[in-house]
Amino acid sequence: MEVTVLVGSQWGDEGKGKIVDILSDRYDFVARYQGGANAGHTVIIGDQQFILHLVPSGILRENVKCVIGNGVVIDPQALLDEIQFLESSGISTKGRLFISHNAHLIMPYHKLLDQINESGANKIGTTGRGIGPCYIDKYARKGIRIVDLLDRNVLKEKIKLNLEEKNNLLKKVYNHAELDVEKIINEYVEFDKQIDQYITDAPSLLNNAILEGQSVLIEGAQGTMLDVDHGTYPFVTSSNPTSGGACTGTGIPPTKISSVFGIVKAYTTRVGNGPFPTELFGDEGEELRKTGAEFGATTGRPRRCGWFDAFLLNYSRMINGIERTAITKLDVLGYLDEIKVCVGYEKNGKKLKSYPTDISQLENVTPVYETLKGWRQDISGARSFNDLPAECKEYLSFISQESGIEIKIISVGPKREQTIEL
Ligand code: GDP
Ligand code: IMO
Ligand code: MG
Repeated sequence: MEVTVLVGSQWGDEGKGKIVDILSDRYDFVARYQGGANAGHTVIIGDQQFILHLVPSGILRENVKCVIGNGVVIDPQALLDEIQFLESSGISTKGRLFISHNAHLIMPYHKLLDQINESGANKIGTTGRGIGPCYIDKYARKGIRIVDLLDRNVLKEKIKLNLEEKNNLLKKVYNHAELDVEKIINEYVEFDKQIDQYITDAPSLLNNAILEGQSVLIEGAQGTMLDVDHGTYPFVTSSNPTSGGACTGTGIPPTKISSVFGIVKAYTTRVGNGPFPTELFGDEGEELRKTGAEFGATTGRPRRCGWFDAFLLNYSRMINGIERTAITKLDVLGYLDEIKVCVGYEKNGKKLKSYPTDISQLENVTPVYETLKGWRQDISGARSFNDLPAECKEYLSFISQESGIEIKIISVGPKREQTIEL
């Protein structure tokens, strides 16, 4: 049965939430595999806007079951707030939301350490949600997992052990007040009472469903260039948003993955620090940000904006094995007389053959642009490919050819109905 991995192809915020919502009525399950509440996936239904941070965007389709996989790092408060928001909006999570017993928990000291790290010289521009420090503990084999909540004694012991070390660090290295062990234990015991009903053996749930012929859409968070292995390290997140992460982050084996679907914004954005070769500055950048309403769904920070980068997309297609794509926010470009597309990078007058993820190289490249004619009209009412102006069709054809991607969905606005399927 169909198991599709959906990935962000650029630096995140490509419109994954909207496209997961569109596709999810064709799937039995939607599962998240990495990241945490650093993600902000927006879905607009009618007049209502939902910004999902941890719960998969499929939750808005009542026949879809949702799984938070083992690769996700869970902030209890963010999760409870989100569940409460959904329930109060008439979206039931009971019997539809499942949380992997092996997912790691974000602890108060993770958020604190994230913020402390960001106040130093090596600023990444993180979301401050404790993501990096939580994954550090996971890989240092000190992490506290959902399964640890099930045994109060194990939970207390693990929190005590972790806090001994963290309080030492906070006090001696950062000159910060110590955290109260009992307070944290009580908070997490309370959290367990509320999420106990959702905890499950997610790999068995998903694999049994696949064996029975059910379909799964695996929803990525962040984007390819924020991948800790394949992105613009160190200006990345601490997980693997690329398609490879979907298997380790859910327990679905590679032999069961049917296809990889890429979400591609019609231009490029990035939040936080790090190189961005096609970035636009000054009035040009400001106008694109304003027209595209490019402000973070999680932190509200202004997103850096720039031209579409086909060289980057080619890299992203290769790393993820992207077969089909959705192009989002095409409507935003309607104000431009001319639109540039980056078709390669040059360094010291020479064209680069492969994408440089080493930032010392990436910071010094010169993008090579082709200039296309803009369509200068509002396309947000287009409902079929033929409704699109000729210059717009030309833009799509050019970026798909230059990036080697096949476009299956064109999004011309944030709403469900503003979607063209090819
Ligand atoms: P995600 O993190 O990839 O899910 O993306 P975000 O939700 O952070 O950011 C995408 C933003 O663009 C959201 O505000 C969406 O409502 C909006 N959006 C999605 N698709 C379109 C589109 O085709 N056109 C316009 N104008 N907005 C869109
Ligand atoms: P969605 O799923 C865009 C960025 C942060 C920062 C870097 C590391 O909505 O596309 P972190 O808090 O993860 O340690 O921050 O990654 N970042 C995102 N940028 N969209 C996201 O998620 C992001 N999640 C993290 O801005 O540059
Ligand atoms: Mg987002």
